[in-house]
Formats: sequence, structure tokens, C-alpha cells
Amino acid sequence: MPTRAPRGTIAPGLLFTDQHGDVAQLHGVGIRRYDGVFYAWGEDKTHGGAFGGVACYSSPDLATWTFLGHALAVDGAVPDLAPGRVIERPKVLRSAAGTYVMLLHVESADYGYARVGWAISDRPEGPYTYLHSERPLGNISRDIGVFMDDDGTGYLLSEDREHGLHVYRLAPDLLSVEEIVSTTLTPPSDHPAGPHGYESPTMVKHDGLYYLFGSDLTGWSTNDNKYATAPSPAGPWSEWRDFAPPGSATYDSQVSVVVPVAGSETTSHVYAGDRWSRDDLYHSAPVWLPMRIQDGRAELEWRDTWTIDPATGVIS
Ligand code: GAL
Repeated sequence: MPTRAPRGTIAPGLLFTDQHGDVAQLHGVGIRRYDGVFYAWGEDKTHGGAFGGVACYSSPDLATWTFLGHALAVDGAVPDLAPGRVIERPKVLRSAAGTYVMLLHVESADYGYARVGWAISDRPEGPYTYLHSERPLGNISRDIGVFMDDDGTGYLLSEDREHGLHVYRLAPDLLSVEEIVSTTLTPPSDHPAGPHGYESPTMVKHDGLYYLFGSDLTGWSTNDNKYATAPSPAGPWSEWRDFAPPGSATYDSQVSVVVPVAGSETTSHVYAGDRWSRDDLYHSAPVWLPMRIQDGRAELEWRDTWTIDPATGVIS
């Protein structure tokens, strides 16, 4: 079992603990910064792969985490949220009207349900009211990510098996999907068995360029994650490239989000990934690292421990 990091320390491969000394459930995490505070929504893996609630935490600096309770709890009265279901990759966006909208990968235990779910709240930490789930435009949807552009347009990134990784534009209230703006596939040379997309997608925009990150489809095992760039969420997307040393399996982690941290001196990017312990998902270690994004290139930088100054954006 991975060791616990001293509280307030980002140490890739070691566990974060909360104010109670409990292992922070920041798995498959979504992270946003509202009014200077970082909020994180993670999969509570108390019940292993089965839904244990969406745990919400806050932090001033991405290092010291305070558990705020379950933003979305297990609820036997709601079929999608019932015990034994699978809910992964909670991601939150705030709509122009100020509503916090949570998107989720909603599953059955056999991963055959393959839907996106929506929940809303008037506070980042919830509690969220669950609305519904669907297959966007009829498509299978497994791992998801979200992105909000500077103009407030929201996007859903969703993995649709052999049809690829879709970028869907969301409605202005973020509560429905309007259209697919682009779809990407893995290169056939990497996948002789047939094309499919990347999973666990996340997107950032830096200096006018869009960067899309994802992992190969190897379940709880890690692989060399990739990124592509484009002048718009609609593409055209570049070839997929490594952002960590090839063969390192992304420092043995799977991307969950890349978080821009805009400060007074610089905008830094933080990679938050998961090192899954398939037999003990609760203790899966976070692998969070600085990501250098510059001139169309993205590169993960290994550090044993590091900090980010939330005011200046400087990583040291
Ligand atoms: C991965 C996915 C995880 C989880 C896992 C189950 O491919 O990224 O979120 O669904 O499979 O095996």
C-alpha cells in the first residue's frame, strides 16, 4: 500500500490525507478553482469499484485538502446512484447562470450502461441534485472529461470505444449535448486490432492552442498517455504524441485532469493522474506533477515533492 505523504505535501505516488487523517478520495478527480479556492471532486473508492459517492475537497494550494463531504451520495432510491452501481470521473463546470453542473460516467457493474449523468447544485461542494443520464446523441459514453472555453462554451469529452474520442459542444446551460465538433482515433499503427479513441480525456487551452490529453484503453493498467493539439476544439487535431518518457507508462499513472493555475507571474499547469491499485482502489495513489506547456509542446516533469504558489502560479 502506498505511504501517506505528510499533510500539505504534493509527493507523486504517496497518498494525500484530509483534515481527519483519512486517505483523500481524489480518484478520477475533477478540479476547478472558484473565487481563489481549489475544489476537487473524486471517486470515493470505499467500496472498491462500486459507487461510494462523489467526495468533495477544497484546498488553497492543491496540497492541503479539506474534506467537505459527499457532493453526490449513494442513493438507493435513484437507480443510477444505487449501491453496486459504478460512477466515475466526476467533473464540474459552472454555468453562466452560476449553477454548478456535475457530469459523470454512469455505469452498471458490467460497464454495459455507458452513459453520461448530470447533477446540479448552487454551491461547488453540493449537495448536488441528480437529474438524469443518457447516451449523448445515442453514442456509448465511457470515460469523460469537460472543458470550458474562454467564451463560456462548455464541452464534453467522451470515449466511445471503436468510434473514437468525441468532443461534444454542450448547450449554454451545460445540461445537454448539442453536437459533436470533433472525433479523434488512435493511430492504426499502434492498434492493429482496429481503431479506437483515447480515454480519460482532458483539455486545456494555452496561448490560443487547445491541448487534448488521454490514455490508451488498458483498464486499471497504466500506459504511455498521449496528447494532441488543435487551433479549435473542432480540430483539426495533430498526431498524438507522448508527454512523458515513452515506456514510463506516464510515470505509472493515468491522466485524470490537467489544471491551469493562472497566477500573477505565470500560468502553470498541474497534471493530476491516478496510479490505480486494482485490488485496493481506495489506496490508489495520486501522481500529480508539473506539466510544462509551451509552444505547442506538453511535457511532464518528475519531482519527488513540489509546491505551487497559488498567487503567483510559480512551481518550485
Ligand atoms: C479504465 C478507466 C477507469 C475505469 C477502469 C475500469 O479504463 O479509465 O475509469 O473505468 O477502466 O477497468
